[in-house]
Amino acid sequence: MSAYKTALEALRRHRQEHNAFDLKAAFANDPERFARHSLTIGDLILDYSKCAVTGETMKLLASMAEAAGVEERREAMFSGERINVTEGRAVLHTALRGGAGDKVLLDGHDVMPAVESVLRAMSAFAEGVRSGAIRGATGKPFTDVVNIGIGGSDLGPVMATLALAPYHDGPRSHFVSNVDGAHISDSLKGLDPERTLFIVASKTFTTIETMTNAGTARRWIAERLDEAAVGAHFAAVSTALDKVADFGIGADRTFGFWDWVGGRYSLWSAIGLPIIMAIGPENFRSFLAGAKAMDEHFREAPLLHNMPVLLGLIGFWHRAVCGYSSRAVIPYDQRLARLPAYLQQLDMESNGKRVTLDGAPVSTPTGPLVWGEPGTNGQHAFFQLLHQGTDVIPVEFILAANGHEPELKHHHDLLIANCLAQSEALMKGRTLEEAKAQLVAKGMAEADAVALAPHRVFPGNRPSLTIIYGKLDPFALGRLIALYEHRVFVEAALFRINAFDQWGVELGKELATGLLPVIEGKKDASGLDASTAGLAAHVARLRQV
Ligand code: F6P
Repeated sequence: MSAYKTALEALRRHRQEHNAFDLKAAFANDPERFARHSLTIGDLILDYSKCAVTGETMKLLASMAEAAGVEERREAMFSGERINVTEGRAVLHTALRGGAGDKVLLDGHDVMPAVESVLRAMSAFAEGVRSGAIRGATGKPFTDVVNIGIGGSDLGPVMATLALAPYHDGPRSHFVSNVDGAHISDSLKGLDPERTLFIVASKTFTTIETMTNAGTARRWIAERLDEAAVGAHFAAVSTALDKVADFGIGADRTFGFWDWVGGRYSLWSAIGLPIIMAIGPENFRSFLAGAKAMDEHFREAPLLHNMPVLLGLIGFWHRAVCGYSSRAVIPYDQRLARLPAYLQQLDMESNGKRVTLDGAPVSTPTGPLVWGEPGTNGQHAFFQLLHQGTDVIPVEFILAANGHEPELKHHHDLLIANCLAQSEALMKGRTLEEAKAQLVAKGMAEADAVALAPHRVFPGNRPSLTIIYGKLDPFALGRLIALYEHRVFVEAALFRINAFDQWGVELGKELATGLLPVIEGKKDASGLDASTAGLAAHVARLRQV
């Protein structure tokens, strides 16, 4: 049997032998449980003591990591090997947060001078726009920047710009991603074309949603100003510089990146241009520095003292061994409202795979469904199911110890109390006896209390982990995102899949291209399945009304 299979079998056996594991009892029996199952780096803590693991579980998970070659794969990534085997590409987004003095070799060439040069160019451009030195065609300074992109060319900048709102001292930011005309139409309402700058962000510069929105934006400028004004109102970010030039955006406003930066790992590259526009180059460098701090920790710390590794091991334990099919990420930090959406792409586009690196079917379930909403809002929506539903869904709580509003400290006290209380409730639960006693204590008749108590039982023993940092500043955000990136990497290594391709998005794109002429009425529906043809016909009828 391979070392991988042996390690997996040992984990599965361990799970069976301990399936009566009780978190409440584990805490009662071990005063050191929190210390044993948490890790602190500076102000950042990861507490996984409320997950059903013991020292033995962690040892077996570490053996699993060794058998899966997590450390070797990590080194292969950092050192520029082409670990994205299905696309023949290196995976070097970590180089984007390196310093000017670092050296990162790809095929013997140091990529860092080019990285630094693009960062300087985008910083200079952003400073020009922010200061008013770079203006629109009619000489007015820009008040609004509209980023047009989708997927990795949208989700990171959207998430980070909102997260860092307290540092926002540049033009207003807007993001258009959906091909639904409602998105661009609503976004442009109220904007002044003379003062609006568009950034067209697309790694490939072929994505149909982005190119359609870019075309509409171009017409919006040309019709309201004139054709000659277009150049002054557009910038672009892409790896396809020739296609950008064909679109008519000048080389001095085009910021490149490289095929070794995956779309969902690209917010550190020129794709971060809207973030720099909003918060300025200094804060952006601090965002990069936070990610770099996590890179160094990830590369150097031993497995069981390594935060991304621990997060990945717990994720693997929950998904591949316990069989939980989803995980909720709940930031108790309103400005991280778009983090779950960002993590959906990062995690699910990376690890939603069904074959291993060599094309064989995987031997465990792979990436879970990732979802979430900020707390406390989620408490009044779906937490009912987390506490009393029939599925166990591990929860990841993310919390800032301090807000940016010292005058509203009482809000933040409530936020923190709620976050900690939720993980406590998931873990402790409430027994039938406790539920009944509580009702009787409130003066309810015994018979009524017996009837009502089952509805008020919480099974408890439900796993959650908690991440806490001092304050959501650029450094803390960069570090948090890099933590999740590396966690996805570790899980992929444990699943033995390629986290860096996304062939699963292709089929829908191909079929949409084929369907467009039918929807446009240029082609009949022959050859389509009855459902798709029927739906297309129904839509066509409704559009005639
Ligand atoms: O959804 C597929 C995808 O290729 C993502 O991986 C990517 O982030 C997104 O589309 C946008 O691609 P592009 O930046 O090339 O427009």
